[in-house]
Amino acid sequence: APVLLMALALGYLLGSIPFGLLLTRIAGTRDIRSIGSGNIGATNVLRTGRKDLAAATLLLDALKGTVAVLIAGHFLGAPAAMAAAFGAFIGHIAPVWLRFQGGKGVATFLGVTLGLAWPVALVFALVWLATAYLTRYSSLSALTASVATVAAAAALVNDRLALLLALLAILLWIKHHANIRRLLDGSEGKIGAKG
Ligand code: G3P
Repeated sequence: APVLLMALALGYLLGSIPFGLLLTRIAGTRDIRSIGSGNIGATNVLRTGRKDLAAATLLLDALKGTVAVLIAGHFLGAPAAMAAAFGAFIGHIAPVWLRFQGGKGVATFLGVTLGLAWPVALVFALVWLATAYLTRYSSLSALTASVATVAAAAALVNDRLALLLALLAILLWIKHHANIRRLLDGSEGKIGAKG
């Protein structure tokens, strides 16, 4: 159990680094928490008009999860890799540094999945891209892809991974409650629309 707690803490520490906030602050854009959805993720960074910063946010918010999983897996074993994945996701959506007001978990969900089982992460990426291409909604793409990812984990890997990802997907859906409401009443912003 100490090993799992260490992995959980490592994941949380890495996951709680809010790259979207850090990068936009360094670049001196408008405060992302006062534009668009107010979220600290890549989709909202894009609403500053800075595609480069949005891409970097997506990459770094994903990679912090991948790195946490790979470090824990390498030094502490396979169960620890799953604990690190959970920790990183929670760190991103509820970082202590931001009074637990974190992101919605999409990039970090992708990143931890990449570290745990890359073919499953590929399913996430493909479903996200296909949904985004068809609808231009970032949130709907993430909601759809998260469900597909749980199914892919069950089909391609095992029930343990599917269960972990199902838990993360439920939290991801909860963090998207405002997006879901906007999708249902037709007021959700599309990708690329300025905040
Ligand atoms: O990355 C989260 C995305 O699914 C929605 O972001 O800013 O449109 O709420 P946002």
